[in-house]
Amino acid sequence: MGKATAVANPNIAFVKHWGKADEALNLPANPSLSMNLAALTTVTTVEFRPGQASDVIVIDGQPATGQALDRAVGHLDRVRALAGTPFGRARAMVASRNDFPAATGLASSSSAFAALTLAATQAAGLSLDEAGLSRLARLGSGSACRSVPAGFAFWELEEAHQVAPPEHWDVRDAIAIVTTQAKAVGSQDGHALAQTSPLYTARLAAVPEWLAAVRDGLARRDLAAMGPAIEADALAMHGVMMTSQPSLLYWLPATVAVLQAVRAWRAGGLEVYFTIDAGPNVHCLCRAADAGEVEKRLKAVPGVQEVVVSGPGAGVRAVDWHLF
Ligand code: DP6
Repeated sequence: MGKATAVANPNIAFVKHWGKADEALNLPANPSLSMNLAALTTVTTVEFRPGQASDVIVIDGQPATGQALDRAVGHLDRVRALAGTPFGRARAMVASRNDFPAATGLASSSSAFAALTLAATQAAGLSLDEAGLSRLARLGSGSACRSVPAGFAFWELEEAHQVAPPEHWDVRDAIAIVTTQAKAVGSQDGHALAQTSPLYTARLAAVPEWLAAVRDGLARRDLAAMGPAIEADALAMHGVMMTSQPSLLYWLPATVAVLQAVRAWRAGGLEVYFTIDAGPNVHCLCRAADAGEVEKRLKAVPGVQEVVVSGPGAGVRAVDWHLF
């Protein structure tokens, strides 16, 4: 039976997806736009084994348990249902390796489900096109659908589509890592709380204007044209998180220190804008020529443990080597 390996990059959203229009189908409450991160990768190998009693999922050397196991098995079930006999009954051996800390707001579920989707479908003898892979990845994790196309992707309904290839713009994301500890509440549970916030509908009403600014800035490779909208959307999303019931507060003191520093540097003429996913780490967007300076300054901010700098990444791809 088949064995396949895929590599994917996580993505950072410039306009975020927060809240769902349909939980069962994992359709988003609002459209989002993102960039794949070339410097971070997830590699996943899937092998269907007819004799095996149950699915075995090993993530970064540890057997998956609880929600992580359930989500991966649920995704393998989708692939088995698509593939039919003989894969419909075969359990799988899955190994996945991240070269970055999982569940710290570096969007590991995006690359995890993009890689799992391609590896599992290929191992099951299926050959899906990009839109089909993106649609299937979405059912595993919403943001994963945006890691399927290369470069910059837009997701509105069932799948994400490329809006620009990675070569379009060598913009950089300098990620200030302020903790590598796993977060207490994952995105999947967080989305379900979004509608309990009185700010939820206000953010959704503002998204179209922010999206228009980001699309325009991206088309013209103009960070200053899109940066204010990127910051506003991230702050609005965290405002929704903080005011949901129960409240989600992902920020640490060092998170706020980086936000303040970024604004002070900008006031001093350095073109840099922040965004934050569901975690405490801060993504700082800047021009390639300024990335070294931004990295140096971020490392000097108290509480910043590490800085990872990334340009735009490729889409999910198959490789001819395996993890086991
Ligand atoms: C804050 O796509 O991880 O990173 O569909 O439940 O897996 P699920 O959620 P997920 O949520 C991402 C939330 C975010 C914003 C974004 O990437 O758009």
